Amino acid sequence: MEVIIQPDYHQLTTVASEIIRDALLKKPNLVLGLATGSTPIGLYKALVRMYKEDRLDFSEVTTFNLDEYVGIPYQHPQSYHTFMANYFFDHVNIPKENQHIPQNTTENHEAFCEVYEETIKRAGGIDIQVLGIGTDGHIGFNEASSSLASRTRIKTLSRSTLEANAAHFGGDVNAVPEMAITMGIGTIMEAKQCLLLANGVSKADAIAKAIEGPITSMVPASILQMHSKTVVLIDETAASDLKEVEYYKRSYANKLKLQSR
Ligand code: PGA
Repeated sequence: MEVIIQPDYHQLTTVASEIIRDALLKKPNLVLGLATGSTPIGLYKALVRMYKEDRLDFSEVTTFNLDEYVGIPYQHPQSYHTFMANYFFDHVNIPKENQHIPQNTTENHEAFCEVYEETIKRAGGIDIQVLGIGTDGHIGFNEASSSLASRTRIKTLSRSTLEANAAHFGGDVNAVPEMAITMGIGTIMEAKQCLLLANGVSKADAIAKAIEGPITSMVPASILQMHSKTVVLIDETAASDLKEVEYYKRSYANKLKLQSR
C-alpha cells in the first residue's frame, strides 16, 4: 500500500485530483469508480475546476458509483443520485449514458446487481476506484462481517453507519434508509487502482486498523492490503494512530524525488 500523508484536507484532495487528471490525460476513456459522503467533495470540486479552467475533458469517461440507498426516491436531497448531480455530474461533460449508480429499490435487485457487474465488465473494468472509509472500517456499504469476496448486492446498514449518516437526515437515525445496494468487496478489489481518502481524527482508528492491522472482514478496508495498487491519501489527523508515519512520509518524499529526475 502506498500511504500519502498530506498536511490538510485541501492538499489531500488536490493530490487525489491530480492522480485522476494524470490518468485521464493518459486514457481519455477512463473508467472511474466513484464514492459519495463528505470525504470526496473536495476531490469533485477540484475536478470540476480542472474541467472549467483547464479544459480537462470528461467526454469519454464512464463512471460507476459504489452504492445507493434503497427506499428513497432519486430526487431525495440525500440520495446518491442527487449527491452526484450536485457535486459532479451537473458540472462536467460526462455523457449521461456513461453515468452508472445503483438502483434505489428492492425490485429485481438480484438481476439489477448482476447487470451492474456485467456493465462494469463491458466497460473494461474500473481503472480507478475512489473510496471513503467508515469509522468502522467499511468501504462502500460493505459493513463489518461482509464477505471479502462479495459482489454487488443489497446490504443492511450497521448501527454505526446509520448513526454516522443521521446527520444528513436531520439528525434522525430512524430517517436513514436501512438498506443499500453496494458494490461488493470482490467488485472493488477488481479495480485496477484504488484511491482511499480519509480526513479527520474520527477516521484515525479505522485507518490504522485498515493499513497496519490484520486483514479481517471485521475491518473491510483491511482487504486493500491485498490490492497491488492502492493509494491511501490521508491528512495528518487521520494518520494520527499509524505507527509508521515517518516511513510513509519518507517513502513519498523519495517517490517525488525520483519523479523530478
Ligand atoms: P464520509 O463517509 O466521507 O461521509 O465520512 C465515508 C464512508 O462512510 O464510507
